[in-house]
Amino acid sequence: MLNIVLFGPPGAGKGTQAAKIIEKYQLIHLSTGDILRAELAAQTVLGQEAKKYMDKGELVPDKIVIDMIGLKIDKHQNANGFIFDGFPRTTAQAEALDLLLREKGTPISVMLSLEVEKNELIKRLLGRGQVSGRSDDQDVSVIENRIRVYNNETAPVKGFYEKQGKYKAVDGMGTIEEIFERLCKVIDKVKQ
Ligand code: AP5
Ligand code: MG
Repeated sequence: MLNIVLFGPPGAGKGTQAAKIIEKYQLIHLSTGDILRAELAAQTVLGQEAKKYMDKGELVPDKIVIDMIGLKIDKHQNANGFIFDGFPRTTAQAEALDLLLREKGTPISVMLSLEVEKNELIKRLLGRGQVSGRSDDQDVSVIENRIRVYNNETAPVKGFYEKQGKYKAVDGMGTIEEIFERLCKVIDKVKQ
């Protein structure tokens, strides 16, 4: 199995690149942000609880997202592999994911970390905010908080995978196609 953690700050292009990667490598895309927004749209209790954090650009509590991802992994017993987008976002989530995958006997293959300058992140997110309807894309102060939360709480997850020899930084500046090619090069090496 090929299990990829697609990592990077808000607006780094995780969702955009995940869509292309799953098509080429036939993987299951698990985006905790997308799953939470679906819960919100369906007005579930989980969605309403998550909204309190998402609107401010804060992280939803670990227990909620870990339980959620466990259910999704179980749902896809025959998958070729998974691409985790926006998860894990804390070291506790990374440890929980390792445990979940150990039960399945299929570890993380690689962490691809998209590196993008802060000004570019803000530009991309404000641009999307004009069309997406995402409440966390509308306000520069919420966007800046998301980037701050990433730097403080999420960036340390790189170290977790670095220790396992799985961390690969990829330049996330440039066109969508250029970045996709860079990602594929790393994935193809890992697959060999
Ligand atoms: P989540 O949905 O994961 O949002 P995010 O991490 O803030 O990232 P985005 O989805 O905004 O960016 P992206 O990297 O996917 O970029 P995209 O491809 O869309 O999380 C939202 C919230 O949910 C969190 O704040 C938190 O509250 C909660 N949450 C989620 N997961 C959680 C977890 N594990 N634990 C706790 N809480 C969690 O691209 C962005 C824009 O840029 C698009 O418009 C795109 O078209 C454009 N773009 C992409 N690539 C390029 C390029 N190369 N050049 C120009 N434009 C580009
Ligand atoms: Mg996304």
